[in-house]
Amino acid sequence: MTTPIAAPPPSTAAPKTRKRILTGDRPTGPLHIGHYVGTLANRVRLQDEYETFLLVADYHMLTTRLADLHEIGQNIRDDVLDNLAVGVDPEKVTIFLQSLIPEIPQLHVYFSMLVSVPRMQRIPTLKDQLRDHSLREPTYGLLGYPILQAADILSVRGDLVPVGRDNESHVELTREIARRFNELFGEVFPVPASLIPEVGLLPGTDGREKMGKSLGNAINFADDPRTVAKKVMSMYTDPNRLRPTDPGTVEGNPVFVYHDSFNRDLAEVVDLKERYRAGKVGDVEVKQRLVVALEAFLEPIRERRARFAAAPGFIDEIIHEGSRRARAEATATLHAVRSAMRLDYFGL
Ligand code: TRP
Repeated sequence: MTTPIAAPPPSTAAPKTRKRILTGDRPTGPLHIGHYVGTLANRVRLQDEYETFLLVADYHMLTTRLADLHEIGQNIRDDVLDNLAVGVDPEKVTIFLQSLIPEIPQLHVYFSMLVSVPRMQRIPTLKDQLRDHSLREPTYGLLGYPILQAADILSVRGDLVPVGRDNESHVELTREIARRFNELFGEVFPVPASLIPEVGLLPGTDGREKMGKSLGNAINFADDPRTVAKKVMSMYTDPNRLRPTDPGTVEGNPVFVYHDSFNRDLAEVVDLKERYRAGKVGDVEVKQRLVVALEAFLEPIRERRARFAAAPGFIDEIIHEGSRRARAEATATLHAVRSAMRLDYFGL
């Protein structure tokens, strides 16, 4: 007789009462205001309405950053701190670490049997990643990044996934995997929806389409006021406007995109746009006012961040506790998956 190596029993998972959110970040460095527009604002807004799971995706960091692993411990804690700083409530949200949930890579293995290689090669973020990291070809791990993300989402049977526009194709793949699995083996998974903000992506300070941690064009929550001012004052604006008296373009101009996203003084924004179009305001003034607006947004975030950072062991405690809860969910999911697949042949 063999003694089965038992995973924790499924009964430890709490019953699901509200719809669930699963979302997360890669711990590749400090979070920035682009993340706020992309997904953080939605997380904070919906944390009461949905049962929210927030993942720190440390395995995902391995897909492109093998040279920077010494930073990972710090990055994980910073990611959690940044989330708390913008208003994620640790009492309401289950914050957990991907690598503490062994069921996620197990699901990844099963899911990887449901998706073809060409399907993975066509996912648009793959070529962006290759370009951003100057890679000639993907590793097997990078190719599978979105399948791992599907495992994240489906491990807790998430219904809604707030992400930036750049992650839409990953949630689409997750839906395909959930549907395919259910079709083949029976209804185990919800088919999750993505929640993508209207504004889409916040451009970088350099005018590139996307603000990115690794692109050197981000304004971080951890930046001090001087750094913020410096970054704003050197922002890319309308390249065709040489003098303040030239009529300028507001649409797509990153300085105005930021005003639209962060300036609470709507009348001021309208006035600045009018004068900009008419050639009656200089870039300097528009930027100075943006600095003021951004500071009004960032100051309370910095304060909260400092408060949470000052409590010793607090962040680690949150991660451990959250991972314990998330693991109970993932264990229950894996049981359901294995019995649906008839893989419970060995005393699972
Ligand atoms: N891919 C996400 C990003 O680019 C991070 C992530 C990993 C994620 N797993 C997830 C997001 C699951 C939402 C759900 O930042």
